[in-house]
Amino acid sequence: MIICKSAAEIEKLRRSGHLVRKILDETRQQVKPGVTTLDLEKFVERRLAQVGAKSAFKGYRGYPCCLCASVNEQIVHGIPSNRRLNEGDIISLDLGVIIDGYYGDAALTVPVGEISESLQKLLRVTEESLQLAINEARVGNRLGDVSSAVEAHVVSNGFSVVREFVGHGIGRQLHEEPQIPNFGNPGYGPPLKEGMVLAIEPMVNVGGPGLRILEDQWTAVTLDGAYSAHFEHMIAVTDNGPDVLTRL
Ligand code: MF3
Ligand code: CO
Repeated sequence: MIICKSAAEIEKLRRSGHLVRKILDETRQQVKPGVTTLDLEKFVERRLAQVGAKSAFKGYRGYPCCLCASVNEQIVHGIPSNRRLNEGDIISLDLGVIIDGYYGDAALTVPVGEISESLQKLLRVTEESLQLAINEARVGNRLGDVSSAVEAHVVSNGFSVVREFVGHGIGRQLHEEPQIPNFGNPGYGPPLKEGMVLAIEPMVNVGGPGLRILEDQWTAVTLDGAYSAHFEHMIAVTDNGPDVLTRL
């Protein structure tokens, strides 16, 4: 069942969404060559403590950290470690919080120093595919319109979408129905209704779509070792169109 939220609940989710965005923006300022992904985790942990918010990820199915930090060929769920960032890397920062029982969840991928033009294109196309999907999140459309918007843009730019991980509804739980694949058919799937809150999160590979999970049981990496990008926003479906809860 897809849980629709009241206007008051959407404001609570916006509060969580805005905090995620604020801390992600601060964290991206810390990204530079020589920094470890554990440094980024410690930064996030301190900021959450300062504002009195709870991590949505730490302890979720045993995930050990507040941040997912996925570098280069890592697609999602990279566990912060002593890995040092190098000039030319890309890193996905994915953060979830809980305020007053309501979840916030967003992600972005940022360059470490200067990156190649082809990686700049990967980041641009992935972020564009997210915006195109958001534009379809309107009353009267179906979920397949959202999903297929991601896939069409990614494929037409020569990249591939990850199929094993999906976006999700969000509210008083991190993962609610519906699942939101980054591929699908326009005109199919559940009709979008006012009050639905969706976390849309394209994961886009330069090479093939395949992945494997590392021995840590979390980190998803591309099968072919080619690089991958990830962006995520939470949106509310309203009668006035999509309302992005993770944009300030
Ligand atoms: N944004 C991801 C998701 O919604 C992050 C989950 S990480 C986990 O699935 F640790 F919470 F699993
Ligand atoms: Co998510």
